[in-house]
Amino acid sequence: MIKEELKLKEALIVEGGQKLEGVLEVSGAKNAALPNMAATILTDEEVVIDNIPDLLDIRTMEKLLTTIGIEINHIKNKTYSFKLKDLKSLTAPYDLVSKMRASILVLGPMLAKFGYAEVSLPGGCSIGTRPVDLHLKALEKMGADIKIEHGYIKASAPQGLKGAHIFFDKITVTGTENIMMAATLAHGKTVIENAALEPEVVDLALMLKKMGANIKGEGTHRIEIEGVKSLRGTYHTVIPDRIEAGTFAVLSALTGGKIIIKNYPNHYLEYVNEVLENIGISIINISENEVIVKRKDILKPVNIETKEYPLFPTDLQAQFMTLLCFADGVSEITENIFENRFMHVPELNRLGANIEIKGKTAIIKPVKKFSGASIKATDLRASAAMVIAGLVAEGETTIHSIYHLDRGYEHIDQKLKSIGAKIRREIIEEE
Ligand code: UD1
Repeated sequence: MIKEELKLKEALIVEGGQKLEGVLEVSGAKNAALPNMAATILTDEEVVIDNIPDLLDIRTMEKLLTTIGIEINHIKNKTYSFKLKDLKSLTAPYDLVSKMRASILVLGPMLAKFGYAEVSLPGGCSIGTRPVDLHLKALEKMGADIKIEHGYIKASAPQGLKGAHIFFDKITVTGTENIMMAATLAHGKTVIENAALEPEVVDLALMLKKMGANIKGEGTHRIEIEGVKSLRGTYHTVIPDRIEAGTFAVLSALTGGKIIIKNYPNHYLEYVNEVLENIGISIINISENEVIVKRKDILKPVNIETKEYPLFPTDLQAQFMTLLCFADGVSEITENIFENRFMHVPELNRLGANIEIKGKTAIIKPVKKFSGASIKATDLRASAAMVIAGLVAEGETTIHSIYHLDRGYEHIDQKLKSIGAKIRREIIEEE
């Protein structure tokens, strides 16, 4: 069996109740690295990106860029160079896009740079239908001719894209990134209204500006981009992963040992830190980029609603649900971003949680403990919640479908083992 098929059957076995102590270092943000890498399509010059996390999703983006004709060199540790050699293909194929929806991020840059792009239409995914209609509508407004044929988005703009006034009906992170990238090389001015405010969008804008793009307003709901003729190479460092950091904060609060979190991006987590404070968990700075997590004996229940940045991220919803199972009262979490993002609830209930779903709200009743069981990682972020749950459960927890974890959490087993967790991987044969 080839390595990737075996990976799909890999499970993580976690022995709960270990004392955890040491340093957890937050890696570069997957959701920043992916658009940063896609932006290298926009220039003929070399771009060097540092602090790229070692993840399956990053490998998928590398394969996509290589398919297009970008040569990627591993310079050192987490630093890679990207340079367009010979244009080989303007197609993002199904086998790559089906592995990672964020592959859609190559659409805008390819279309802007080469006047043509074919990207396999991302299907639904476990957390919802997740359409890309807003990306396509905006590109059409910028003059692209878009057809959907044989499961592919076929977009062409042989004379180049033209600036346009884009109103996103819904705030979309990768949509804002795609259009911002496309607009850097369009003729004239593009205005994106109702743009996403996420730090990863702002970081992409900063990188594009270093490449010579003319962008104003990133970090606000109105971004203005004046198209330029060409972009140049640059050097860029990926920002820390706020979601991994928040995941570590929850883990630390629940396991109680002395864990130092390095590279904790407090400035991206102000709202999350406030929610933690309301629960009874404080994030204490011990140096410029290191924090420890201090909790009160009794955790207070809270109500959380997922919203776009700067409010509570949907990508931390499952982890906080795990935490709130141990609060001293009933909490509620309302999921506003994705319609099917409670798949982890039955899994947590298998461990002993008492969570009920009513529409888009989960009602979390307190329990005293979790006990180890076989559970499934249902999506990327839920998989981290499963690991946290396994670490606090009594006995052994087997987490299946662990490839989700490897898509988004860098070397998670090594990181956790280094602070004393007892976890191992096993290939589980299917019946
Ligand atoms: C990004 C993040 C993901 C995070 C999500 C929400 C990356 C690579 N991924 O995903 O981790 O969970 O933001 O913070 O950065 N929508 C439409 N039509 C579209 C586009 C989006 O209806 O054309 C809807 C989606 O179905 C969803 C909402 O808009 O309900 C927000 O989605 P969006 O911000 O686009 O998520 P992603 O960019 O895919």
